[in-house]
Amino acid sequence: MNNQRGKFISFEGGDGVGKTTQINLACQYVEKLGHTPVVTREPGGTMLSEQIRGLVLESSAGITPVTEVLMMFAARAQHTSEVIEPNLAAGKWVLCDRFTDASYAYQGGGRGLPDELIDVLAEIATNGLEPDLTLLLDLDVKEGVRRSHLRDSPLDRFESEAIEFKNRIRAAYLKRQDHNSMRIVLVDAAQSIQEIEFEIATRIDDLHARSLG
Ligand code: TYD
Repeated sequence: MNNQRGKFISFEGGDGVGKTTQINLACQYVEKLGHTPVVTREPGGTMLSEQIRGLVLESSAGITPVTEVLMMFAARAQHTSEVIEPNLAAGKWVLCDRFTDASYAYQGGGRGLPDELIDVLAEIATNGLEPDLTLLLDLDVKEGVRRSHLRDSPLDRFESEAIEFKNRIRAAYLKRQDHNSMRIVLVDAAQSIQEIEFEIATRIDDLHARSLG
């Protein structure tokens, strides 16, 4: 155990960009650098938040955009206080599959909710917590759809949306990266797994160096 706060890294991108593969590789790398990684995801990461995930991803009950964003942030509030904050405080490195940027992209860009609403919810749910580093895996939307269809699992509510919805999500992510370019790193997800792994490892090295002061 050390007294230093851990680092918080999030992974973002549209569906089918290969986040899961890269999170697993990044987890091994963080461990190699001598830190204790904790891998988690949103919506999810706690018992309650996983239940909310089940509802919000699978429900056929005609969830409105406002209900959807509130469910995402209900899951996030619980996840932040139960998992993310305590682990960071204990010096662990938290690797999270999506965080608040996903709400700007999906509920903001995708569903058309205003950024100002998401700003307020983020403040309430997470006390404005931001990752130290966000890796945005960016891929042509049609290629992402093609890759999603290669998987065995059935498509969820977001994956089954129209191409225009996915284009809006990609555009919102890119805008967010442009406005937060110190924190959010754009990674070309059309590269090979090894190339992406190397690029991400380089960014994690920088964070590691900063953590040494
Ligand atoms: P993800 O776990 O990446 O899906 P997969 O099962 O393909 O790995 O994310 C679940 C879905 O939830 C994804 O389509 C994006 C959506 N989502 C939002 O709409 N808003 C959010 O704030 C978050 C965290 C996820």
